Amino acid sequence: MMQAPKLIAGNWKMNGLAADLAEVSLLVDSLSKAAVNCRVALCPPSTLIARMAETADGSIVEIGGQDCSAEAKGAFTGDTSAAMLADAGATLVIVGHSERRQGHGEDDATVAAKAEAASKAGLAPIVCVGETLQQRETGQAVEVVRRQVMQSLPLALSGQSFAVAYEPVWAIGTGLTPTLAQIEEVHRAVRRAMIERLGLGVAVVPILYGGSVKPDNAAEILAVPEVGGALVGGASLKAADFLAIIRAA
Ligand code: 13P
Repeated sequence: MMQAPKLIAGNWKMNGLAADLAEVSLLVDSLSKAAVNCRVALCPPSTLIARMAETADGSIVEIGGQDCSAEAKGAFTGDTSAAMLADAGATLVIVGHSERRQGHGEDDATVAAKAEAASKAGLAPIVCVGETLQQRETGQAVEVVRRQVMQSLPLALSGQSFAVAYEPVWAIGTGLTPTLAQIEEVHRAVRRAMIERLGLGVAVVPILYGGSVKPDNAAEILAVPEVGGALVGGASLKAADFLAIIRAA
């Protein structure tokens, strides 16, 4: 089967002011000079989506949100709908990041509703799953992730564009990563669960790895079977680091 191009997506989290768009200009410049064989996306805070989309216009860089409401519109102060993100220039949106699950009490049903709302608005959701350190240490990682996949992917995603990101909570922002064998084990379990939930059509949907991906470990992680890309936090903020990861794909 033809391998889909890998997706290297940067999650800026709550970082970035207008001045930081200079990093995006640098990235776009460098990408225009040499072909890369992967897809590239950046997910800035929502305040920067429109301006980043303008900065990246005409380049291969796709723009995504970091979260969206499950609702289409209405009296939901502070929330942003998927259609609003699309209107601002996004084509992707992260849903169910562990910082949303843990910090904002989002459960699998909420994540599934957000993924469905995103897809309905024409955005490709990147649905995040991942075990905590305690779950890893008690041997529950595969079971937890499998359950999250089964319950966070709405049936409406069948035939639609989306991705899953495996981000072990204990690997995010810590410099720690699972072994390559552990990454492969979980990614294979994610693929099996996706197929069980949505059918064989999802055999080519990318499964990204996220959690302390850096220029010096990207190549070995991206070479693991079933790793279809990376969701990069801290190392996506600087063009030089992010480019090094893109070049490793
Ligand atoms: P770090 O790459 O900073 O560990 O963050 C990973 C992440 O949470 C991406 O969504």
